[in-house]
This record gives sequence, structure tokens and C-alpha cells, in this order.
Amino acid sequence: MATISDDAASLYRRRFGTEPQTTVFAPGRVNLIGEHIDYNNGPVFPAAINLGITLCAGPSADSQTHAISAELGEGGPFSLPPELPANSSWSRYPAAAAWAIGAKSPLNIAVSSTLPAAGCGLSSSAALLLAAATAWNHVDRLGHTPTKLAQLCQLGENHYVGVNCGIMDQMASACGVEGHALLIDIPTLEITPVPVPEGISVAVLDTGVPRSLAESGYNERRAQCEEACRILDLPSLREANLPLLDLIFDPTVKRRARHVVTEIQRVWDFRDALAAGDADRIGSLMAASHASLRDDYEVSCPELDEIVSAAYAAPGCIGARMTGAGFGGAAVALVETEHVTRFLHSVEQYPAPGVKGVNRTFFACQASQGAHIVAMDRPKVSL
Ligand code: GLA
Repeated sequence: MATISDDAASLYRRRFGTEPQTTVFAPGRVNLIGEHIDYNNGPVFPAAINLGITLCAGPSADSQTHAISAELGEGGPFSLPPELPANSSWSRYPAAAAWAIGAKSPLNIAVSSTLPAAGCGLSSSAALLLAAATAWNHVDRLGHTPTKLAQLCQLGENHYVGVNCGIMDQMASACGVEGHALLIDIPTLEITPVPVPEGISVAVLDTGVPRSLAESGYNERRAQCEEACRILDLPSLREANLPLLDLIFDPTVKRRARHVVTEIQRVWDFRDALAAGDADRIGSLMAASHASLRDDYEVSCPELDEIVSAAYAAPGCIGARMTGAGFGGAAVALVETEHVTRFLHSVEQYPAPGVKGVNRTFFACQASQGAHIVAMDRPKVSL
């Protein structure tokens, strides 16, 4: 599967009739463990992957930013600073980045993606925000660090786009390190890059089920966690522990809080298991994480549950679980590299439950560098 797409450059030439001056690649991410705990101040363990968004940019001939996507077509033009309310097209994402980082120069922008369809849970929206923010950071010489860009992109997604996400996806896309997963402690945003051990591959198992309920379900889970904090009189569920949860009488709120408390502990245990190369422990922690997301947090779906079971039954599987917000989307698996082809083949054979015609995609990927300017050869294509 191609890493960086050439499509953005040829699209740019076709649409704007000139050569792009800046090309950025911003990766998607998988999260190995630590799900739905970034907004509860817990630690998370994502890795940027070698699939993502390529963005080509150059100066605009007028005062507006014009954007086109290989997958989504023309986006609505916007001026700087972008006005609220955001336009309804996909270009509200680059507009949100421009709004949050204080972009000055109107640009022509062409983007293309090597991620499976938007909504697969590999953070294409964070990648798009980071691609645009990295381009403007470069063009306008704003000097923001990757962590600062991630914070500003989250601000843009929360307040400009209006999606109430945490900061994990933006941090992963901004700060990824080749060959490493990132242990990120959310309260300090301290990042510890941890090598993906020799002989272990990361596989993505995309169910093809669109994450249709994701936004409302996500906001509801956040509200339930806030309710648990209110009942326990704690600033965040990071400060909670299992005995304390007996003070919560609402069974749903209690189960949500139990997921958060147990998942935080699983992240620390996973860090130790990964460092020790303890494959059995890695596998049982990922299985427990999936079960907790399915039963206590209720953000899985039958297709994700089936694909995770199929993964555990396939050759070379170390561990598997749903990744990202859930309600559809993808699972992540850690697989013995020598068996990865057989593993993917075996999972592909697994019958898809219920849903017909969904586009399932299974592939291995590499942990990769975060958003960066791409030094490309001068293109050979003439206009
Ligand atoms: C989405 C959000 C993240 C995080 C995950 C769940 O991807 O954007 O901030 O909350 O869901 O772990």
C-alpha cells in the first residue's frame, strides 16, 4: 500500500495550474491501548502510521484559501481568519487549523489520502488538521512545536468544527516517531516513544462499518464520565480507584467509570509487558481492553467483536482490540512479523457478520514519523 500519495501534487497542478510550493504528509494513527481515557486524563498508547494525508499548497491568487480533495472534491473557499460558523464542507478542517494557529497567508490546497475511507477510526480528520497546520506553520514561519500544533488542532476541532474530541489523535499525528508507539501521559503531554519490538508487526483490521453514531455516543460517554467525577467529587477519573466506584449508584455511570479506571491500569501494565517482550501478557491486556470497551463502555459493535475474535484465532496473533472511538471502524492487532501474511489471509476468510456490501480492509502498517514537510523530487509531469 502506498505511503505518500502523488495524487495531491497532480491534483494541485490540474486544479490550480501551477506547481505546489509546499508538500506535507500527516499520518493517521492506531491506538494500541488506552481507549476513551484521554479525556479522563489517563495515559494513551498510540502510534502514527505510514498511511495518512498528503497536502500540497501554494499561494492563492486572491484573498481566499481554495481547497480540493482527491477523495471528497472541492471544499468551500474561506478567508483568513476563517469566519464562524464553519462551512459545511470538508474544508472546515483546514479552516479550523488556520483559525486555531492564526494562519496569515491564503493558500491553494490539494489533499489526498492513503487511509481507508474517512470514518474508519484511523483519525483522518486529525491528520487533515495537522497537514494544514503544518503547512501554515511552515509558510507563515509561525514556529509552533509539534505538541503546540497538536494542542491548537484540538482547539480547532473542538471550537471551530464543533467535535468534542480529546487530544490523543492530534498528538499521535503531530509527534509520531518512526518504529515507535508513543506513551503519552495526557496531563503533562509528556511523550515516551517505545519501540515496537523487533519481530512484531502492527495490523489494521477495518470492518468497513461506518462510525455513524460516533459523535452522539462519544459525547454521551464524556458526559457520563463527567457525571462520575461529580458524584465522586474528583477532578478527573484518573484520581479514582475501583473501591471508590461503589459510591456510584447509577449502574451505567459506574460501568463507564470502571472501564476508565481499569483501562488506565492496563496502559501501565501494557508498557511493562511491551518492554519485557511478554507476548502472552500483551495479548491478555489487549483482550481485556476490548472486553471492557464492549461490556462496560459499550462502544464496540458485532463486526468489531467478530473481527477481534477472528484475529485471536489467526496464526501469529499476539493481541487485538478495537481502536479509536468505536461504534464501527477498525481493530488493531499485534502480529508476529513472520506470520503476518498468513494472519491477514486468515482474517480475510472470516465471514463478515450481518452487514452485506461493507468494504472490509486488512493490512499491515508501520509506526511512522509525525506530520512533516516532504522533500519531493521536482515532478516530471508537465501540465
Ligand atoms: C477519538 C477521539 C480521541 C479519543 C478516542 C478514543 O479518536 O478523537 O480523542 O478519545 O476517540 O480513545
